[in-house]
Amino acid sequence: MFEHLDAVVPDPILGLMAAFRADPDPRKVDLGIGVYRDEQGHTPVLEAVRAAESALLASQTTKSYVGPAGNPGFNQSMEQLVLGAAHPALTDRRVRSVQTPGGCGALRLGAELIRAASPDAVVHVSTPTWANHTPLLAGSGLRLERYPYFDPATGGVQFAAMMTALERLSPGAVVLLHASCHNPTGADLSQGEWRDLLTLVKRRGLTPFIDMAYQGLGEGMDEDAFGLRLFCAELPEVLCAVSCSKNFGLYRERTGSLHLISSSSAAADAAFSQLVRIARGIWSMPPDHGAAIVQAILAEEKLRRQWASEVEAMRRRIEELRLEVVQRLRRHCPQHDFGFIARQRGMFSFFGIDTAQVHALRERHHVYMTDDSRMNIAGLRHENLEYFARAVAEVLAVRITEDHSGTMTR
Ligand code: LMR
Repeated sequence: MFEHLDAVVPDPILGLMAAFRADPDPRKVDLGIGVYRDEQGHTPVLEAVRAAESALLASQTTKSYVGPAGNPGFNQSMEQLVLGAAHPALTDRRVRSVQTPGGCGALRLGAELIRAASPDAVVHVSTPTWANHTPLLAGSGLRLERYPYFDPATGGVQFAAMMTALERLSPGAVVLLHASCHNPTGADLSQGEWRDLLTLVKRRGLTPFIDMAYQGLGEGMDEDAFGLRLFCAELPEVLCAVSCSKNFGLYRERTGSLHLISSSSAAADAAFSQLVRIARGIWSMPPDHGAAIVQAILAEEKLRRQWASEVEAMRRRIEELRLEVVQRLRRHCPQHDFGFIARQRGMFSFFGIDTAQVHALRERHHVYMTDDSRMNIAGLRHENLEYFARAVAEVLAVRITEDHSGTMTR
């Protein structure tokens, strides 16, 4: 049965993670996979997580199933974290939530719900978008199309072109939006642009599907949820896929949630029963541990404060690195303007070099970023900023060409 299957090309992000791990050079710099790193290059277990986890291990009395919608306490805490405690969609009882295996599980579950409700719906994603959006969403059978988003000339959003493209969509079209810290570009919508987009989405009858994987790592916990909260307050239907991987550092615990905002409480109940059915048919019930940790942190004032200050420290470190890397690059590559890095938010920036230059950085200098030149700013350290900037200067100074086999000549 399986003999005729061809080997697939590895996922661009996970393939790079494996290549980085296999590189023995001590100077290597990992700007690939989107995980936060501290000044020592570690992805630490947060102190608040450690404390919640120890308390949990001591008090847990069973490993029995949690149920297909997951832990109700976690779901409720996430609703409040994501939407804000007094959000009108919550007071109107229009929100239903399901705990999912990571933000990926939430994206797939949302896509399956859209497919069940409207099999011919098309999901419109930004150009570019996170590489895994395509398999996660298209895997449900939905068709994907693209709208303009990133402007390489400014490092910002091509907002006029985006609006023109969305204006042409038919009612019922789904628009996938990044709440903040756009992956892979770091270019976000301003609050004014979210408001203008809301007007368009209302007028055209579009359905927003909002992916929020970096709450707290862009401008702040409330600021990063601005567009999501606005849309959920003003629109009859919104889907929100949320990840706890980055802001709780729970990557491998696969912790996330899907929040569905419906037009009425009755419609929300029916859609929720569909979500439960779909979840039961895919993963049956989500893993418990990460969600139990998040619930414990959000429920206890002291732990919550500790967690918020740890997220704030991560955010500030990234912001500081953004400013410093721009300064170093200015010194070593004065003919290039990398100022956009300081204006972008979250873990990623699109560096704007070509694939041959990305490969040269990797092969000659052991600096790893994805082929499209997405770099994880949090992978830099103060001690290797100089090394990184010199490596970039060297690569930009020579013309590199690659033949079809990937062999470089300069
Ligand atoms: C990333 O974008 O690098 C992360 O979200 C990790 C992943 O699964 O791709």
